[in-house]
Amino acid sequence: MKVGINGTGLITRALVKLIALNEEFKDIEIAQINGRSMTIDRLKDLLLYSSSQGHSNLDVSVNSNSKELIVNGKKIKYTADTKPEDIKWLPEIELLIEATGTFRDDSKNSKDPNRHFKAENNNLKGIVITAPGKGSIVDYMWVASPDLEEEITAVTSTGKPFVIGAASCTTTATIPIVDTLDDLFGIESCYLTTVHAVTRSQDILDGSKGWCAMDTQLHTTGATKATNKVLKKSIPMDGIAFRTSDKAGSFIQIDAVLNKEVTKEDLLEAFENSKYKDSFAYSTVTNPPSSYVRGNKAMVVLIPDEFVIINKKRVIIKGLYDNEEGYTHHLLHLINFVISKMT
Ligand SMILES: NC(=O)c1ccc[n+]([C@@H]2O[C@H](COP(=O)([O-])OP(=O)(O)OC[C@H]3O[C@@H](n4cnc5c(N)ncnc54)[C@H](OP(=O)(O)O)[C@@H]3O)[C@@H](O)[C@H]2O)c1
Repeated sequence: MKVGINGTGLITRALVKLIALNEEFKDIEIAQINGRSMTIDRLKDLLLYSSSQGHSNLDVSVNSNSKELIVNGKKIKYTADTKPEDIKWLPEIELLIEATGTFRDDSKNSKDPNRHFKAENNNLKGIVITAPGKGSIVDYMWVASPDLEEEITAVTSTGKPFVIGAASCTTTATIPIVDTLDDLFGIESCYLTTVHAVTRSQDILDGSKGWCAMDTQLHTTGATKATNKVLKKSIPMDGIAFRTSDKAGSFIQIDAVLNKEVTKEDLLEAFENSKYKDSFAYSTVTNPPSSYVRGNKAMVVLIPDEFVIINKKRVIIKGLYDNEEGYTHHLLHLINFVISKMT
């Protein structure tokens, strides 16, 4: 299916790279990218090399006359319009991936992704947002969402344009740990700590959004609420994000009091047999640094050497996640699933 992407940021570039290099996403064809301040030549450079992920191994060139990128032989139309109503989406595009971070709240007109459906001559049937939705937009996560099959089928078969959210990178790393622990042992209470890489939503020096990005600083995280929303559970949870200046690669720590007594072997067995087993990876080095996880496609890379159990019921689980490519890889599985229900 032909898709369009709004935005030219870190997640868009990860989408282009992962789709081009992974056979499992061959049904997703990016036909158009819409940006804002980015020139097509700058986007080409950013697709070739990323400060956080290194060389992409993509073959990228630009046709300046037709305003197209050519990525591994496939043409991608490039446009730059700021208002969704003004974007001329190619008529063959049926699914839009909204990756600006701007349009994800249908309760405010200035941020409403539904504005894309008002664009002239568009044939968009649906939108997947690369972030948690706000207002009435529901988030889904591949593997994790209970009733995914029924609900996505219902959403895509109404004939009306649909918009769904895809939660966040921290939620993607949290869910497989928390859901596995809760299903097997029951969680009495839980505290999430993430040590999160820098993103462009932070200020480079002290400013309106926060303190200098080179300082480690405390931020709220929406991942605890999003975890319960996606899982349709009500696990007592709270959490905090330490924002660091790391380029990509984030830590997660889940500190949970369980309803049952467990051993470290019980925990490892739980993860190895969980429904998320294919989305876990395991650190092969002692005390991995944040950079260890870059380019890793797992939802979370567990660090079993650092698991701690206190008084048999309190467990502290540590892991790493690539907030760019790990999240995007999992998001693409959701998009694949949505497309399979649209055709
Ligand atoms: N990076 C992560 O770790 C991560 C992980 C999971 C989810 N997400 C979510 O994914 C979304 C994108 O994140 P990102 O890190 O890729 O952000 P980013 O690097 O800041 O990129 C955002 C892009 O959207 C463009 N943009 C903003 N408003 C626009 C508009 N009105 N029209 C057209 N383009 C517009 C920006 O243009 P300019 O270049 O002109 O600023 C920029 O290219 C956010 O919602 C974020 O929360 C990010």
